[in-house]
Amino acid sequence: MNAIPSAAPDDAAEHVAVAAERRWALIVVGIIALLVVVMIVTGLHWASMPPSRVETIDVRRVHLEGEFVEPNLGTAVASDGRVTVRLVAQQYSFTPPCIVVPADTPVTFRATSTDAIHGFIVGTTNANTMVIPGFVATFTTTFRDTGEMLMPCHEYCGIGHEAMWARVQVLPADEFLRRARATERMSCVPR
Ligand code: CUA
Repeated sequence: MNAIPSAAPDDAAEHVAVAAERRWALIVVGIIALLVVVMIVTGLHWASMPPSRVETIDVRRVHLEGEFVEPNLGTAVASDGRVTVRLVAQQYSFTPPCIVVPADTPVTFRATSTDAIHGFIVGTTNANTMVIPGFVATFTTTFRDTGEMLMPCHEYCGIGHEAMWARVQVLPADEFLRRARATERMSCVPR
């Protein structure tokens, strides 16, 4: 040990320690800043794309009155050209079990359930919703490709769940409109 300690080595060690602490402090601050940015971005994203509004329906009267009576189910073209698909989910089927829609046209789905919680997704498209008794599920989507897709129930709803599915036929828009002119409510259910 020196009688008179040299200041230089201690200064160098302290300098290294302070630099390391500052480096770690910056990394921690960076991680916290990243988490705050993620919270703000996801918050704004969900505020700008909120889940659809709540629309209720009396589940005991679904079949008796209102828009989900059987003759009103299927695909309708309004006088302003808007296309709406109305369907009812029940254990273990969808009514109608075959749905016709036009390609390259916004299509609004409106669905409700009469018993358990069901859900559906159309092929690999983004048409995807839960269907809950007492509520009307609605969304609007546009199908790009023509052809037929499966529309399975994707919420476990009982022992028949895996057999619960419908078909969706996407027709070219002009062919769809030609068929729509002949009838008020369209479906591809064989008669
Ligand atoms: Cu309906 Cu699963």
